[in-house]
Amino acid sequence: MKRILVIHGPNLNLLGKREPEIYGKMSLDQLNELIMVHGRKLGFEIHIFQSNHEGKLIDFIHDQSEYASGIVINPAAYTHYSIAIRDALAAIDLPTVEVHLSDINNREEFRRISVIKDVCLKQISGLGEKSYLDALDLLQEKLN
Ligand code: DQA
Repeated sequence: MKRILVIHGPNLNLLGKREPEIYGKMSLDQLNELIMVHGRKLGFEIHIFQSNHEGKLIDFIHDQSEYASGIVINPAAYTHYSIAIRDALAAIDLPTVEVHLSDINNREEFRRISVIKDVCLKQISGLGEKSYLDALDLLQEKLN
């Protein structure tokens, strides 16, 4: 069974309470449940991780990539400036999809910049929880 890493960056642990008009009312646990159910339907084994710390996200990518076939990552604010996360993704060279709940291309100017985008198959943004589900669909197409 193919193993997919789903990685959530900083502040996503607050989903549901955090700016619900932008990020929705769903909690991270509820979102993870949707991801698990959809992943199972596609025949994936899903491994989910959230951290508020850049180094922990990088350690997870290093440690787990060996056992994985693909990655779905919402790097949250790190999207816009973490060259370290970009380098980690480039180093392990797994098919990766960058996702965002909100439409980062139609918010503040600074959110339009993604330093992660170039090392990913695609950026999927602005579809709420569907961004993650579409990313899993894309990985399934690519891995089959
Ligand atoms: C986000 C968008 C980022 O700009 C923001 O910093 C986040 C969440 C999203 O999912 O819409 O924390 O990645």
